[in-house]
Amino acid sequence: MLLGVNIDHVATLREARYSLLPESSNAEPSPMEAAIDAKEGGADSITIHVRGDRRHMQDRDAFEIAANCPLPLNLEMGVTDEMLELALKVKPEFVCLVPETREEVTTEGGLDVRGRLDEVLACVKALQEASIKVSLFIDPDLPQIEASAKTGAEMVELHTGCFANAGDDVVGLEVSRLIEASKTAHAAGIQVNAGHGINYANVARLFEVPHLAELNIGHTIVSRAMRVGFRNAVSEMKEAMSGYPD
Ligand code: PXP
Repeated sequence: MLLGVNIDHVATLREARYSLLPESSNAEPSPMEAAIDAKEGGADSITIHVRGDRRHMQDRDAFEIAANCPLPLNLEMGVTDEMLELALKVKPEFVCLVPETREEVTTEGGLDVRGRLDEVLACVKALQEASIKVSLFIDPDLPQIEASAKTGAEMVELHTGCFANAGDDVVGLEVSRLIEASKTAHAAGIQVNAGHGINYANVARLFEVPHLAELNIGHTIVSRAMRVGFRNAVSEMKEAMSGYPD
């Protein structure tokens, strides 16, 4: 199981002080340096989310990381013409289509592929024509998986937010949902990734979910990096994931 490291919150910290001084030579920390550290810690890919409101990652980050990152880049983006235009210029290896509302603190809920099928399908096609592989960030619900299969997207990323927030009494239920969803997507020939809210403590519970190719993890790694450094935080997560059955 591969690890995609989401480095958005490195940019969150930089923007907290330097959003109005983008050209400042003092602007730190650098997402590009974090990407290099992540590789040295054993990351398999780098994920960034350029949001419509540019609250953390900026367009220039996407261009810089795509050009210089020693790992494949996964660009998360909303299904909008603006973001499609950006992705076609940045040309990351992967795009993950996510829902996006301005008010949310982080991505809440999966993309409604079923309800937005035509729109999503057109976006997937345009990205694939540019040789970008596409993932759809969806709730672990069967109708969303069926709709995702119709778009021709190569991958889905199962939203693990409900799993991560579930109390002891319902976490088993959330794991069951993920198991069912993963089996269904895999049977449909779709690569299965997962992400959101995964941390060092709960990751082992995902070992029960079959067919997971990649986890995308951000917040907990950036948080842990404050104590042990970015490289160590990434390698600790790789270690935590290493018990996943082959
Ligand atoms: N996957 C997707 C699609 C996301 O939107 C996010 C959050 O930006 C993540 C994974 C990573 O979530 P977390 O920061 O909770 O690890």
